[in-house]
Amino acid sequence: MITWGISANSHDASLAVFVEQELVFASHSERFSGIKNDADLNTKLIQYARKWGEPDKVVWYERPFRKTLRQLWAGQGWFLKENNIRNYLRRYGITCPVQYSTHHRSHAAAGYYTSGFVDASVVCVDSIGEFETLSIWQGSADRLDKYYSQGYPHSVGLWYSAMTQRVGLKPNEDEYILMGMAAYGDPEKYRSQILEDFFYYVNGVEVLFKENLHRGCLHWRPDLKTEQDQYDIAAATQSIYEEILDTVLAHVSKYLPSRNLVLMGGCALNCSANSIAHRYFDRVWIMPNPGDAGSAVGAVLSNWNTHIVWPGPYLGYDIQRPYPIKPIIEELKYNKIVGVANGAAEYGPRSLGNRSLLADPRGVDVKDLVNDIKQRQRFRPFAPAILAEHAQDYFDGATGPYMQFTATCKRPDLYPAIVHADGTSRVQTVSKTDNPGFRKLLEAWYAETGCPMLLNTSLNIKGQPMVNNEHDAKLFAEHYGIKVY
Ligand SMILES: [Fe+2]
Repeated sequence: MITWGISANSHDASLAVFVEQELVFASHSERFSGIKNDADLNTKLIQYARKWGEPDKVVWYERPFRKTLRQLWAGQGWFLKENNIRNYLRRYGITCPVQYSTHHRSHAAAGYYTSGFVDASVVCVDSIGEFETLSIWQGSADRLDKYYSQGYPHSVGLWYSAMTQRVGLKPNEDEYILMGMAAYGDPEKYRSQILEDFFYYVNGVEVLFKENLHRGCLHWRPDLKTEQDQYDIAAATQSIYEEILDTVLAHVSKYLPSRNLVLMGGCALNCSANSIAHRYFDRVWIMPNPGDAGSAVGAVLSNWNTHIVWPGPYLGYDIQRPYPIKPIIEELKYNKIVGVANGAAEYGPRSLGNRSLLADPRGVDVKDLVNDIKQRQRFRPFAPAILAEHAQDYFDGATGPYMQFTATCKRPDLYPAIVHADGTSRVQTVSKTDNPGFRKLLEAWYAETGCPMLLNTSLNIKGQPMVNNEHDAKLFAEHYGIKVY
């Protein structure tokens, strides 16, 4: 029995393949089409997925007709896309039976049924599903029951995206840049104005807004005089979001019995805020692709209502060759920077060692060197990947294998390239089971230099998706003159 989960026709499409109950493949459409955040499926992705055979069933990640209803209700008739999913899939030659999950249940199921927890409180926060914007679930054994649901237009995610657009960034894409800008601003300057202008109140799990922010808030005209004001708005936005998440999680931990938390939805990509979860819960799981693209997996698990063994995030296109440790170490020693494209690509937005641009994190010039190559704003920090057993020697706070939390760096003077302006780092810990090839590379680097970590950022040409196959890797090497192994 082959089951495909599909999340598409909106933004950042993805496809997951299950053979019986084993998750054998999952990838973003963009990696095969070369179009960043590609909303649609493509024939290369589908051809690759067919390596495991024709699907017997597809589970779609949301209810298309309910979504259309909401779009009509919200006056978005101009935005309507195909809502006959059978027709949509037929264009790609997919003709098997189709079943449907709901948007937030797909989020919840992607998290809970991959968590390994026998019980959990599940919190999903995003911009919008069909009508839902924030949902809370109780997971117990194989059951997933809804505890609370907040409906459109009251949406924390839409508000955060609106503020992203208000500071001149791209909504539904650049929220992570707003989060990074926050460290350079004064959270107090616009705080009361934002709260006053946008929020009715935040009470327990209820977060109510004064207006529908679906089309942004470019009409909102605070007194902006300097570029610094943009950073101050970012700081206030991030700080208010963290307070909201804190209030919601405090309520959930008080009223629901489980000591385990599953956090999902696009807002669970906010690594600065995610660390709050550890204040209230003993164990926290965020499936490493918590946004809508992760719902390709979630749709199927929602349909099945059953836990699976989480196979790790290396689920995409597979470049089958031995992990190249020796040449990478040599390149790092002499040129400080090197690309690696090896094994199955990461499912999710983070490069975790198989499609990574790696650099020596020591010294003051590395951050500018890598930022210049990636043509990013100079303020943006990079993440470290560290041998798991050394993490607590260098960082204080939450760490994990998927760069989902931030921890305070104990030696920012030695490793400025991987430390943000607020003194924190988004740490990837690497154990023997997480990624054996990358682990051996870090071990060899440590043996050679005494430094147990590397700077790890995504291997992509600016504006393009992450490198997927051997051809993309070659293009990257030619474009930047950086070796890729
Ligand atoms: Fe979502």
